[in-house]
Amino acid sequence: MMLTTAARPLDRAELERRVKELGPWFHDLDLHGVRTAPDHFLFDYPGGKFRRFEHILPADLTGKSVLDIGCNAGFYSFEMKRRGASRVLGIDHDQRYLDQARFAAEVLGFDDVEFRLGEVWDVAALGERFDLVIFMGVLYHLRHPLLALDLIREHAASDLLLYQSLTAGTKAVVEPEADYDFFEGVQALEQDGWPLMYFVEKRLAGDPTNWWVPNSACNGAMIRSAGFDIVEQPTDDVFLARVSVERPRHGGAVYPSKGSAT
Ligand SMILES: C[S@@+](CC[C@H](N)C(=O)[O-])C[C@H]1O[C@@H](n2cnc3c(N)ncnc32)[C@H](O)[C@@H]1O
Repeated sequence: MMLTTAARPLDRAELERRVKELGPWFHDLDLHGVRTAPDHFLFDYPGGKFRRFEHILPADLTGKSVLDIGCNAGFYSFEMKRRGASRVLGIDHDQRYLDQARFAAEVLGFDDVEFRLGEVWDVAALGERFDLVIFMGVLYHLRHPLLALDLIREHAASDLLLYQSLTAGTKAVVEPEADYDFFEGVQALEQDGWPLMYFVEKRLAGDPTNWWVPNSACNGAMIRSAGFDIVEQPTDDVFLARVSVERPRHGGAVYPSKGSAT
């Protein structure tokens, strides 16, 4: 079978060769029958996961813009394009994954999905706000997770946020009171379901960038604290949220917009 990319025709053997050359892949994409990570340790990833919560996203994204932070090989970017998004930008700080994403876009004919090398810390530099920001599987890789959420809220999101994190611990959720007195508060922290995040000093799964693993309550609490309202939570680790009308009580991100060395 002859497959065409924007650049030139590609036969199946060459497609398989390029997929292998660009590997290993974290996203198991289906490139016209050639799978990029058929032996993924999470099996059919992230397609299988996506199918469990895709119904919470608008089916029609016509005219909408999407920013996919930590886009990897572009799975979510491509899915949003399939829903008709007019602008899709994927950023990732790993050039190898961007090479995979650009190749997959070419093979799948998603020529207008843009992929850029970028850090979540630099979302302000994009100078653009997006109707949907996808922040899936990135938070726990960050040493400063709340800063990332604050930056997204302040500089990149204009409406929806799709969020996921590696999540552990109890599924119970404590909704904190508005305030506690000192002794009562210290006790409240020990309730099952208090938002908490496990810190990984050394390694988890051999990955030195796995720094924090929140419980379910903590995912929700951090999203709210950054200035979003939760719209849906289909699983303990996936949330759809919307920019709140009110600004977050801490005033928003302090870096880099408010820093001053003078
Ligand atoms: C676990 S993968 C998740 C990929 C995809 N979002 C998903 O949910 O399937 C984490 C991705 O985030 C990227 N990443 C990690 N830290 C980042 C950062 N500070 N800025 C941009 N991308 C980052 C990694 O390179 C990787 O592609």
